[in-house]
Amino acid sequence: MTLGILGSGSGSNMQAILDAIASGTLDARVALVLSDNPDAYILERARSHGIESGVIDCHGFRTKFPGDAQRETANRLKAAGVELVCLAGFMRMVKRPLLEAFPGRIINIHPALLPAFPGLEAWKQALDAGVPETGATVHYVDEGMDTGPVILQETVPVLHGDTTETLHARIQKVEHRIYPAAIRLIAARSAVR
Ligand code: GRF
Repeated sequence: MTLGILGSGSGSNMQAILDAIASGTLDARVALVLSDNPDAYILERARSHGIESGVIDCHGFRTKFPGDAQRETANRLKAAGVELVCLAGFMRMVKRPLLEAFPGRIINIHPALLPAFPGLEAWKQALDAGVPETGATVHYVDEGMDTGPVILQETVPVLHGDTTETLHARIQKVEHRIYPAAIRLIAARSAVR
């Protein structure tokens, strides 16, 4: 399965996907990495792995993903032969132009047990709510905010004395396991079709 990855930050989830591929536990290839943030470390990681990468120009908009930028992103992903688009810490909401180019083929990792705590800083939302456990979810992307069908999720305990940092770190450990696992599941489902 040929993957394209969109990220805005550190790219530790992409690294987990690359590690799973390198260790032979995930039969896939990352063909293209795109970021809306030219300084994102995910681009550095892509370059150091010899993976084609590029910057998405969002014309200075802070959170909006303009339609022409989405069309350009879709074109670049298609040109690279991408079959599955993985959002990995991508901080803009994907809308119709990109969703229609990859119907049912865009997935995201979210740091909570959806449908609980959608949106930003989900680990902080969980801490503030005082829940005993939260988690991580891989889901298909639709037009809503973290609302698409769940592919895989796993719980993470909230421990006494947790800070936003310790809780997020515990959630990320789980993310790094379930993201490659979810891609494996999708690949297996595609193979039997
Ligand atoms: C992850 O916690 C993910 O759930 C959220 O953004 C973070 C990205 O981290 N959507 P990284 O860039 O993969 O390290």
